Parts: sequence; structure tokens; C-alpha cells
Amino acid sequence: SSVAKKPPLTLLLASPRGFCAGVDRAIHIVERALEKFGAPVFVRHEIVHNRFVVEELARKGAVFVEELNEVPDGAAVVFSAHGVPKTVPLEAKRRALTSLDATCPLVTKVHREAEQHHDLGRQIIMIGHAGHPEVIGTIGQVPDGTVLLVGTPEEAATVTPRDPDKLAYITQTTLSVDDAAEVIKVLQSRFPKIVSPKREDICYATTNRQAAVRTIAPRCDALMVIGSPNSSNSSRLVEVATRAGCARSVLVQRAAEVDWSELEGIERLGITAGASAPEILVEEVVAAVRERFDVTIEEVRVTTEMVTFKLPQSLTE
Ligand code: F3S
Repeated sequence: SSVAKKPPLTLLLASPRGFCAGVDRAIHIVERALEKFGAPVFVRHEIVHNRFVVEELARKGAVFVEELNEVPDGAAVVFSAHGVPKTVPLEAKRRALTSLDATCPLVTKVHREAEQHHDLGRQIIMIGHAGHPEVIGTIGQVPDGTVLLVGTPEEAATVTPRDPDKLAYITQTTLSVDDAAEVIKVLQSRFPKIVSPKREDICYATTNRQAAVRTIAPRCDALMVIGSPNSSNSSRLVEVATRAGCARSVLVQRAAEVDWSELEGIERLGITAGASAPEILVEEVVAAVRERFDVTIEEVRVTTEMVTFKLPQSLTE
């Protein structure tokens, strides 16, 4: 026959990958709000950082805005999974908007820590990426100008708190576990009395997805992380994979974006997905790989996740 034989390829699928419990809950909140209140339901900021998810919800009647002043009086508005500064629910209340909070409970946990430290007179150092909505939301739990934001070990080496004996640190939930550990080491050596979180602020989903990709990366000739460029945890997965030994690690949003010329001649391809990337996009990429290669799939599972979060009561009754 004249049919060209496809080259063999082993596909290493990292597990866990993709949706976490906080993302799943946030999307459900928008869907339930649409059922309960009808379209349009406003959503402040991308509900989760994934273009496909946002477009699907927009098709069903969600309207995405950046600030509450774009939401008309009397409307329903959902706050995104990343969390919001305290001023946002206050403003929604003042305007008598129907608000629904899709902040991930694990982000809310960090918010409460920040508040407690502040109440106990401790200054807070937040480890995180400037400008990310989660960081803005967490810093916005305490009065302006009281949190010191640190992004790198270099910044940790120069940060100057007002009283090193009354100090605590908190972190963004989606950091690279290894990078955060380096920053924490610098802070602890400079400020031995700094108070740490009782339980890690980097969430279970971030930790597990990084552990899974770290496991497959050394065995892969190339590796794709399915996710959007503005997704913090997805970008971290690319960094973790690169550092764990797969130099050809890239972020792709979906199959149409894959640069197939980069994959010529490879024998083992790794695939994972950020916490905000739906499994359907992984399936789409796998199908596209199957069109070009004779694929053997090997799923590499480092742990099984059992976490789920309840919807807000106002949507379940
Ligand atoms: Fe929450 Fe972690 Fe997902 S903080 S939204 S469970 S990535």
C-alpha cells in the first residue's frame, strides 16, 4: 500500500493534571448563577485563566468585566477564583449587586491568615508575582501599604521589614515549590523569628501537578503543558519540566497552536495541563498527535486527588 507508516511515539501523560477542585467549583458557580438568575451574569475578571473556558461561559451568557463599575445596577456578579481585595465585596454591597464569590477556598484560607497576622501586629511578607490578581486580592485583605511583596531570593535578601521580630510570610498558591523554598530559606536565615503558615499556602493541586511533571520530564524528548499564558500555575509547570530535564518544554493553549516541526524525530512526548485547563483540550492535543504518530499512551500517576469544594449555599438551596 502507499499509506505512509506513522513513526512510533510514546505519550507520557502526567497525572494529576488539569482542573483542580477550586477551578471546577468556580466554573460551576457561573453555570449555576446563569441557571438561577438568567443571562447576563457578570464575572469580574476571567473566572479562571483559560481562554477556552471563558469563551464557553461567554457563549452561555456570562459577561466578563475587569471592574465592578462595568456591572449595571441590580445585576448578578461573580468574583473569580483568584480572589478579590476587601474593597470589592464592600463596593458590591454598597451598590446592592447580587454577588457570588468563586474565590477558591484555599485562596480564602491565605486571606484569613493575612488578616490574623495583621490583627496580631505582625507585618506580612508575601511571596508572589506582582500584578497577578491573586496577589492583588490577598494584599487587599489588609490596609494598603502594609504587605511587602517579594518575588525572588534577591528581593528576599534586601527586603526591610519594620520589625524583624514581628513578621510573618504567606505565599501565592500557585508558585513553583522549589522557587518558593529558596525564597523562604533566605527569609528564615535573615529573620529567624518569622512566622510560617501552619499549613503550606502553595495548594495541593499546584504541588501535585509539579510533582507529576517533574516525574515524567526526565524521560521526555519534548513536553507540552496545556494552558493559557496568563495562567500562573501553567507557566510554573513549564519551568519545573525544563528544570527537571526536558529542555524542550512549551506552553500550548490547544492543538492548533502546536509547532509540529519541533516534534520531528522525537520518541517520547510528555503532556500535562495546568489547573485551569479542561481535559477536552488535552484530548484534542492527543488526537492531533495520533494523526501524526503511532501512539502508545503511558499514564504516569504520582497521586490520586480526592478534594472537592461545596458550592455557596445561595446557589444550592
Ligand atoms: Fe485553588 Fe489551587 Fe486550584 S488555590 S483554584 S486549588 S490551583
